[in-house]
Amino acid sequence: MGKNLDVILKLVRNIITIDGPSGVGKGTLALSLAEKLGWNVLDSGLIYRLVGFMSLKEKLETPQEIIICINNSKIKLLTNLKEKVCEIELDDKVLGKELRNENVASKASELAKDSEIRNAIMKIQRNAYEEEKGLIADGRDMGTVIFPEAVLKVFLQASSKVRAERRANQLKEKGMSVIMHDLLRQIQQRDEEDINRKISPLKPADGSLLIDTSNLSIKEVEKRVMENYKKL
Ligand code: DC
Repeated sequence: MGKNLDVILKLVRNIITIDGPSGVGKGTLALSLAEKLGWNVLDSGLIYRLVGFMSLKEKLETPQEIIICINNSKIKLLTNLKEKVCEIELDDKVLGKELRNENVASKASELAKDSEIRNAIMKIQRNAYEEEKGLIADGRDMGTVIFPEAVLKVFLQASSKVRAERRANQLKEKGMSVIMHDLLRQIQQRDEEDINRKISPLKPADGSLLIDTSNLSIKEVEKRVMENYKKL
């Protein structure tokens, strides 16, 4: 019995996965939990955005061309807790803002349907976990596919209208102009693609803690997650 328990404990890792649709608050929650716990953050969406960015910039047509480009690039994940932002270093150039626009996001979502592309970036994601430090992993399939051994799996949800309003506020804060109708349509279209794809679709992992963030502040969401984590 003791030995069995030992095996089970070894399989569970200090990882909290946060999955959910775009604009639901995953990124903000991930950074704030990481700061509280002193853990690392994996923003997996940023890797898919990098893939979208590469394919648009280099005019890559096929998954094979894209995979060769990924394998030949030096990709480093960066977490800037002070600035509360995740970035990626691509061949010694830090990319952040370039990846955070709807053009890149919708290309990312389109390419994310391809199983070979998903497999090619699986290792980058799994390597974000370091034994001596915990990890907050944010994305669409963190709990279901990438880190099934996570100690806690969270799934955030909120209506598309609430999510579009939040995204609009973020963009306005950055001085960008927003057409609400277009933003809502883009969010709904991306949800549709992420939920209905055959490989690693967006869905809660078994046993997930489900939280509707529509009427909750980030502090309230964080409190719920921490309460559940401490219970484990
Ligand atoms: O989280 P995000 O909006 O930055 O993600 C951009 C796109 O990348 C998202 O629409 C789908 C894809 N993605 C994915 O398929 N799997 C993940 N784990 C993360 C993102």
